[in-house]
Amino acid sequence: MIPVPRLPAAEKFISQMRAMFAATPELPLRWEKARQLLADMLRDPEVRQHAQTWPDSPAILGLEGKHGNLLLYEDPDWGFCVNALIKKPTAKTTIHDHGVSWTLYGVIEGGEDVARFERIDDGTPGDLPKSATVRATESIPVGPGYIDLIKPWEIHAEYNRPERTAAIIIRSQKCGSYIQNIFYQKDGTVEQYWGPQQIPFHFGWNRQSGDHTA
Ligand SMILES: [Fe+2]
Repeated sequence: MIPVPRLPAAEKFISQMRAMFAATPELPLRWEKARQLLADMLRDPEVRQHAQTWPDSPAILGLEGKHGNLLLYEDPDWGFCVNALIKKPTAKTTIHDHGVSWTLYGVIEGGEDVARFERIDDGTPGDLPKSATVRATESIPVGPGYIDLIKPWEIHAEYNRPERTAAIIIRSQKCGSYIQNIFYQKDGTVEQYWGPQQIPFHFGWNRQSGDHTA
């Protein structure tokens, strides 16, 4: 079967990421470099146009802050993934971490507040508690072009303004391969889960109507 091409900007990003990963084993530096590559892709007009086609289906929008992700790409060698996230106006994510994974969260359209939290109990990053106390440390208003680098176990949340927000997320590994925490401030409980549902979606134009397979 002839492979369906991705957007040129997507192909460029993937090839640059693969070369950069091979040349940059040190993780913080690797993810700073990835941030620059993502910034280039977020500026691409065709990628921005593609974001207009991302569905607002219930599976994507999720329940109780657990949004699904479109899975645009998974690298067969390095394991990094390209996800898309759509949040409806005023939507809120849970307060959560991303477990052991590294994440870049790049806003492509809309506007939201990105909040950070810290544990104020005696827990340590990397544990999987049944309960915890977290406190907000900062909240940054962001818009298109903003890229948040989320290190392993960093606790955060995103709160949409009254507009749809679309973002591209680069993850060091596919959701489902690592466990993460969700922190509920109302009663201090913590839930562990395996991350957002992954919904394959082609990162290009040449798909048949209704065919969202990658
Ligand atoms: Fe997150």
